[in-house]
Amino acid sequence: MISKTSIDQVYDAARVEEVIGDFVQLKKSGANYKGLSPFTDERTPSFMVSPVKQIWKDFSSGKGGNVVAFLMEHEHFTYPEAIRYLAKKYQIEIEETQRTDEEKAEASARESMYLVSEFAQKHFQNSLWQTEEGKAIGLTYFKERGFSEQTIRQFGLGYALDQWEDFGKKALAEGYQLEYLDKTGLVIVKEQASAAGPPKMIDRFKGRIIFPIHSMSGRVLGFGGRILSSEKKIAKYVNSPESDIYQKSKVLYGIYFAKQSIAREDCCYLVEGYTDVIQMYQRGIHNVVASSGTALTSEQIRLINRLTKNIVVLFDGDAAGLRASLRGIDLILEQGMNVRVCSFPEGEDPDSFARENSYEDLVLYLNENAKDFIQFKTSLLNEESGHDPIKRADTIRDIVNSISKIPDRIKRELYIQECARMMNISEEVLFNTLAQISSKEIKDYKRVQKAPPPKAFEVLKNEPAQTSADIQYVLERKIIEMLLLYGDKDGEFEDLILKENEEGDLVLEPESSEAKVYEKIFLDLQEDEIELTDEQFRNLYYLLIEELNKNEDFSISSFMNALDQDMVEQVSSILMEDEKYALHEWEKKDIYPKNKEHTISQLVSETILTLRCYLIKKRIATLQKDTESEQEDHRDTLEEIMNYLSLNSLLNKKLNRVLP
Ligand code: CTP
Ligand code: MN
Repeated sequence: MISKTSIDQVYDAARVEEVIGDFVQLKKSGANYKGLSPFTDERTPSFMVSPVKQIWKDFSSGKGGNVVAFLMEHEHFTYPEAIRYLAKKYQIEIEETQRTDEEKAEASARESMYLVSEFAQKHFQNSLWQTEEGKAIGLTYFKERGFSEQTIRQFGLGYALDQWEDFGKKALAEGYQLEYLDKTGLVIVKEQASAAGPPKMIDRFKGRIIFPIHSMSGRVLGFGGRILSSEKKIAKYVNSPESDIYQKSKVLYGIYFAKQSIAREDCCYLVEGYTDVIQMYQRGIHNVVASSGTALTSEQIRLINRLTKNIVVLFDGDAAGLRASLRGIDLILEQGMNVRVCSFPEGEDPDSFARENSYEDLVLYLNENAKDFIQFKTSLLNEESGHDPIKRADTIRDIVNSISKIPDRIKRELYIQECARMMNISEEVLFNTLAQISSKEIKDYKRVQKAPPPKAFEVLKNEPAQTSADIQYVLERKIIEMLLLYGDKDGEFEDLILKENEEGDLVLEPESSEAKVYEKIFLDLQEDEIELTDEQFRNLYYLLIEELNKNEDFSISSFMNALDQDMVEQVSSILMEDEKYALHEWEKKDIYPKNKEHTISQLVSETILTLRCYLIKKRIATLQKDTESEQEDHRDTLEEIMNYLSLNSLLNKKLNRVLP
């Protein structure tokens, strides 16, 4: 783990406007900077960076946060990757903590493997461009396949000389240790003749063209090497073996080059091989990755799922491969993604098709031929099974099985309706099959887990979607905003206290008191035992109260540095709200945003009173509903309602005083 001190140093040094400036063209605009959103295609700037608050907000996508959140969002870094990136940019040495010696050794072994791989990539690339053999064989081959020099450079393609020990010897001479050459599989170490003699080793990739495989953040993890001769005895591709840094099931070829475009286009094309990715990329379709010939795994899908919910699987023109691939797709459905499939004409694959067609034709083809997966599967199997009843029964089960993987109930139901129509059978049959599959799955699940099953797949009518943006949410958000902006300010608050007057009647009398804003909020909410219902707001609320209570000089930016990324996003979105006006330069257009007429104290009182009134009304409504049932005695409930009603009228009186 990176030490807290290092993280603090990084946060202190990093300037959000400088870091974002490396990715987005920013223009000064008042106290802020603005630019075009890097997350959407837009013409007028709605992306804003505040150097004072050290946060950013993208009004077109709703995203926002601090400097680390930007790197995680834009570069798809993990948190530690973002910190390391910043440390490098600002030349801060990172200190690692809390590691056992074993972990340290492991981490440094992994780091050594990364370094060797990086060296190997450069070496192979160099052999391709700088040696006679590389140019004559490797470069010529790539060019014959239609790859431009720019593409070859971009993907870091290379060539391994056809010698037993070319790479191995160079690497040792450069000081890389044999252990890591072995562990990364770049060389295959043979038994040594004598302990004193030089190690006997051979280059795994000798005589092959090289495709480096990158991680999401761009580090070289391993290689694919293709032989050029068509000799049957030799495997066409040799790949790096599984290691601490290269796990085939967790890697997608091309993801580093594609990630930006996948997020931006909100769609990912999935192909089979290295050459498919490169050819499509060169043709202008950048949101493309390959599973590298193996069956797709859930981990690979999760990598894509971080970037988009939409995936289009591209198949070669042959029918045999297609059927086998259909199964893997259920895994994609399971993760709640929308899947489309697209096959190419007989004898074509994405590589050949992209090579032979213009960008426009390729896009047109993909748009016209990408079909919804379930519909595609249904029509394919339906055709195959014809009128044979047994085959048809199998087909139904097969299709409903795919549908049962979809987590969203509404979608499942729509698919059932659609398939019933396509197969010309009743929906009821399909629903029954679905129920059977689901209940079997649940039983199996129970047997394995001995724990409560996930919510049963119910095949019922849709429930209306819940709207989350209700009054309570708005009020709770306002409370957080007040704590953030004015929490540490002193305020003078007026409260109405119930008192007995000279005639002995109870009346409300104003009484003023001084308090910090956060104290007032805290005490008022506590008085009514009000808990914020939104989980994120509730967590933020307690963190803020604690921080304000502890800290004489509360600072928003240091408060934010200690938060989780999603909370940071929430906080900056709240803080940036009023900047929105500046963004549109409304002042210039003579349209002023409504001024905040209230003083802070008024605002606080008003918000809390409104929330209390709202909660009371909600409570009364529930109680009234209880009284509608006929069996019980409702006297207690009615009394409770009366109490709430009088409290409500009291609060309303207070509220009327507060409102201007
Ligand atoms: N693959 C692999 N190992 C193999 C065979 C295939 O890793 N022994 C992976 C590679 O990622 C390859 C993909 O499966 O790109 C598809 O295989 P194939 O169609 O045979 O390869 P292409 O890259 O299309 O090769 P080419 O068009 O040059 O024949
Ligand atoms: Mn091919």
